[in-house]
Amino acid sequence: MAGVTFSRQGEIGIATVDNPPVNALSQAVRAGLADAVRMAEADSEIRALVLICAGRTFIAGADIREFGGPMQPPLINNLVFDLERTNKPLIAAIHGTALGGGLEVAMACHFRVATEQARFGLPEVKLGILPGAGGTQRLPRLVGVETALTMITEGGDIPAPKAKAIGLIDEIVGGDLLQGAIAFVERLLEEGWPIRRTGELPVAAVDPAIFDEFKKKLAKRQRGFLAPQACVDAVRFAVDYPLEEGCEREYALCLELMRGPQSKAQRHAFFAEREVAKIPGFSPEIQARPVNSVGVVGPGAMGTGIAISFLNAGYPVVIVGLDQPSLDKSLATMRKILGGAVAKGAMTEEGLEAKLALVTLSTHFEALSEVDLVVEAVFEDMAAKIQVFTKLGQVTRLGAILATNTSYLDIDILAEASGRPADVVGMHFFNPANVMRLLENVRGAKTAPDVIATVMKIGKAIGKVSVLVGISDGFVGNRMLSKRSREAMFLLEEGATPWQIDKVLVDFGFAMGPYQVSDLAGIDVQYAARQARWGILTEREHQANIVDQLYRLGRYGQKTGAGYYAYDDKRNAAPDPFVEDLIVRHSAARGIARRAIGDGEIRERLLYAMINEGAKILEEGVAARPHDIDVIWLMGFGFPAYLGGPMFLADQIGLKTIHDALLKYEARVGPEFFKPSALLARLALEGKGFYSA
Ligand code: 3HC
Repeated sequence: MAGVTFSRQGEIGIATVDNPPVNALSQAVRAGLADAVRMAEADSEIRALVLICAGRTFIAGADIREFGGPMQPPLINNLVFDLERTNKPLIAAIHGTALGGGLEVAMACHFRVATEQARFGLPEVKLGILPGAGGTQRLPRLVGVETALTMITEGGDIPAPKAKAIGLIDEIVGGDLLQGAIAFVERLLEEGWPIRRTGELPVAAVDPAIFDEFKKKLAKRQRGFLAPQACVDAVRFAVDYPLEEGCEREYALCLELMRGPQSKAQRHAFFAEREVAKIPGFSPEIQARPVNSVGVVGPGAMGTGIAISFLNAGYPVVIVGLDQPSLDKSLATMRKILGGAVAKGAMTEEGLEAKLALVTLSTHFEALSEVDLVVEAVFEDMAAKIQVFTKLGQVTRLGAILATNTSYLDIDILAEASGRPADVVGMHFFNPANVMRLLENVRGAKTAPDVIATVMKIGKAIGKVSVLVGISDGFVGNRMLSKRSREAMFLLEEGATPWQIDKVLVDFGFAMGPYQVSDLAGIDVQYAARQARWGILTEREHQANIVDQLYRLGRYGQKTGAGYYAYDDKRNAAPDPFVEDLIVRHSAARGIARRAIGDGEIRERLLYAMINEGAKILEEGVAARPHDIDVIWLMGFGFPAYLGGPMFLADQIGLKTIHDALLKYEARVGPEFFKPSALLARLALEGKGFYSA
């Protein structure tokens, strides 16, 4: 029985799943579990069966790699019935994470015991599907419809104490899990507990209005995603149909989603997120440097967010700033943000104080003399950053890693300023740094391999998804974004309005369009960024100066009540005829004849400009793989997960289609903006995609 071994301790059979790394329910595991149940049934000396897992976790779900191809029997949705129907008590002993199909297997067992650290969830919705092995039918029977709806549609996981409190598990065991489970079984045998089949439990009555309420809420929160809505339908089957029929309907709905484009894209996103942790050509022998303490230079919003990320992972943090008031403000912000976690019940007051006790504030660089890693987060000015790196090179200990949070500047210049270029690297966090999961780690020309290994590892340790990129203006994410912003600006000049452009991107799946973002982030901020990059902008970009005009009018966006949009006192946005008039006059002054621009052209120009830049980024080796680009856009720029990222989407559209469109826009807008990258042109010609290059 590959994947499952059968043993016994006295009268108790033990089925041990052993399928590293996460005990996914491969065909061998499914077959092994079915066999184990049959063996226990056939052996008259065995009175109960414990299902436990070897390695670091309980079953973490179906084997996602099998999706999309034909499934080999026994199918998981049949297996759970085999487990539930067995006539000897079946007990799941859970450690690590019981996720997806793993939790479905556990719920099909008659009893569940777990370690204190175990976690439970049905994350299928994140893969664009729904639990297809009875999860939507059995969970409501154990924990009630409302809790089940929340768990299934959000896809998060809950800790063992909560699982016990809501009735998902029966007991938390301390010490050795197997021995704890056996003690539980001995007790139930001795006391003659009847087998309790989850599927036979009634679903507690619920007001059917709850289903519509959830659907409405999800239509907003998870706009554009099909799976959350289907999850609600599936949970409703548990109320409307007997178990078997509910399961059949659930499975059919799951298969439909699995075969659809959204799930394909979300599965791609799942594996891409893991792929980016592996650096091509990097020897596994390279050891990360130990990091036990961290410094942050610059106590502004970014530095404070970065500090919180490290504090949350338990690192002591030394924050260095120019003056005491800015440091005090940073500490107050930390207290406020971490206090939010206390208010939500996610942290205790003592936990908060313990975290803040890890902070040291100082106005002296010398306070960084002992730390293992420093992240510089001062404002985006080369001269200021050079000063910081010169100083860091002097005060930090040899071997301490010196990272910059710059989003555009050339790291190699800072590396030279430090006098220790091998220790210098980019760690580009995204705002707000304590929330956003993306971390672009930037390798300089002389960055030491073990420094790269360290920042990739530490990114994971602080809950980020680290992507390694090379030096380039704006690295990967902002470099592509700048091409999209450029097209958005040209489209305004040619005939579109900010609200038309925003709507196209919102309909595409972004939370906001570029002009809504400008008004939120501040037109003054955008103006300053544009000035800083003036030297590398083309002549047409210089002249496309609507942002400068708004800046000069003091229309800084939401904060001044007017930007591209007009705002009422509740910050509700409305299209502003004044801005439309300003744009029309701008076009006339530039001699550009405005025309009606279709949404299709807007979408293509914004998206294809980005994809073409992504291709150049691959060509230049700034990103090693299309996965890196997709993960950056999914994690850092709100690219809709159900489209899989720009490079994945490009492959779905077809590179030939994109290439033809680029040629069309090259003729219309100019070769300096739309000339297809050599890589894209070659792949289009060869009928390949970025992922099949
Ligand atoms: N199927 C196939 N491979 C899986 C997998 C799965 N369900 N879960 C993880 N893996 C692979 C990862 O791709 C990775 O492979 P790699 O080393 O080649 O890159 C390896 O296992 C380790 O995974 P992580 O790097 O994610 O390890 P962590 O320790 O950080 O996290 C975990 C472990 C929390 C279990 C995390 O892997 C996870 O969340 N897995 C997915 C869980 C999930 O979505 N389950 C539901 C599956 S769908 C389902 O069950 C359908 C059912 O309802 C019918």
